Amino acid sequence: MADAFLVRGGASLHGSLPVNGAKNSALKLIAAALLAEGRTTIANVPAIADIDAMLDVARHLGAEVGRDGDGTVTLDVPGEVGTATPPELVRRLRASIVVLGPLVARHGRARLAMPGGCNLGSRNIDLHLAGLSRMGAEVTYGPDYVEARADELVGAAIELPFASVGATENLLLAAVTARGRTRIINAAREPEIADLATMLCRMGARIEGVGSPELVVDGVDRLAPTHHAVVGDRIEAGTFAVAAALTGGDVTLTGVDPEHLRLALDKLAAAGVDVSGDAAAGLRLRAPGPLRGTDIATLPYPGFPTDLQPQLLVLLSQARGTSMLTENVFDGRFSIVAHLRAMGADIDLEGHHAIVRGPTALRGCEVIATDLRQGAALVLAGLVADGETVVADPHHVDRGYADFAGRLRALGADVERADAARARTPGGLPRAVLGP
Ligand code: UD1
Repeated sequence: MADAFLVRGGASLHGSLPVNGAKNSALKLIAAALLAEGRTTIANVPAIADIDAMLDVARHLGAEVGRDGDGTVTLDVPGEVGTATPPELVRRLRASIVVLGPLVARHGRARLAMPGGCNLGSRNIDLHLAGLSRMGAEVTYGPDYVEARADELVGAAIELPFASVGATENLLLAAVTARGRTRIINAAREPEIADLATMLCRMGARIEGVGSPELVVDGVDRLAPTHHAVVGDRIEAGTFAVAAALTGGDVTLTGVDPEHLRLALDKLAAAGVDVSGDAAAGLRLRAPGPLRGTDIATLPYPGFPTDLQPQLLVLLSQARGTSMLTENVFDGRFSIVAHLRAMGADIDLEGHHAIVRGPTALRGCEVIATDLRQGAALVLAGLVADGETVVADPHHVDRGYADFAGRLRALGADVERADAARARTPGGLPRAVLGP
């Protein structure tokens, strides 16, 4: 019997919710811990499937991993870590490519299976590899693996043609113990990269320009283990903010810095949402009246985050007027559109633009999660749809949202997992969920 989210629309979300630590930071902090022999502790680590996968990678490489119920992860890293990761682990998680830089830095070689993760169009790692080559690594690859070798990594000036998050992180992790100075020009500036740089500096790294488009790294001989708490997840916060806005709710989110969501919050305000509060008091979202359409274009930080694009598409389908949403970061990131159309949304696609006419009433039906953010956005669509929405393949959402259904329920939504519903009312599930 298939698992799914079961969403019954109509409830308005109210209350306060603590935001978890950022997935996209915690994953890289685990890779950073591998750079130093000894015990590193990382607090505020979210309980999500991608973290389970990354900790399995760390274990496979020789770290002893401990985890308590409060979200603190302990990594005991040996003097010698492994240099190869098996395909089944790397395919579970694209972000595991960030161990490439640290492993080459520590042991002069690394062999990784080609990474998996969300299927968002052409998702290359050429910038990671070109940067490592500039630092003296010899990179070879086949259809299903990539290997990098270097007797010693040497600092270099590396200009990224696109401010790639993953490439910036991989090169930063390689550069902190390389010989001499590395400059990463046109570096990505996401808050999660600043979080990684902060932890690396605590470990003894010398990094300047954090938060700017140029990172300057002076390599050090060795790094020491440390303690670090993960920054709040701006994308999880943004997802709940959209849920509040969509349902005409009043929600306060704590544990996130609203500055990390500035442009997204400006767009919500332009759509008619009352946005107030700050990091200390919490970020408050109230949607007192009808939503208005607005135009949005995704860009690297501080631009509008692509990871909130599907959620905003749902919101715009419920807003008055015609809106244009332009996706500039990933191709192939409009997989939600067919599902939203099936639910009743009026959306046309022209290349990397989505033209949304709203508001249109959404009706509950069976839809399928095909990636993390698209799946979460479909659950949000269900919150305002008439009747019941069944979102199949919820494991995509589990990759990045801890107990998504439970947390939405805590704010008053009617959302549950098919497993839970089955336990409660055996035989009472829709046929689509019961499967063949
Ligand atoms: C990270 C985030 C992801 C987010 C994305 C953009 C993690 C685990 N994931 O992904 O949630 O959506 O940033 O904010 O942190 N590119 C290349 N060559 C490369 C690298 C990237 O062409 O070597 C292209 C990609 O195909 C994509 C674009 O650059 O079109 C953005 O990729 P990148 O910024 O690297 O994103 P990720 O690190 O994969």
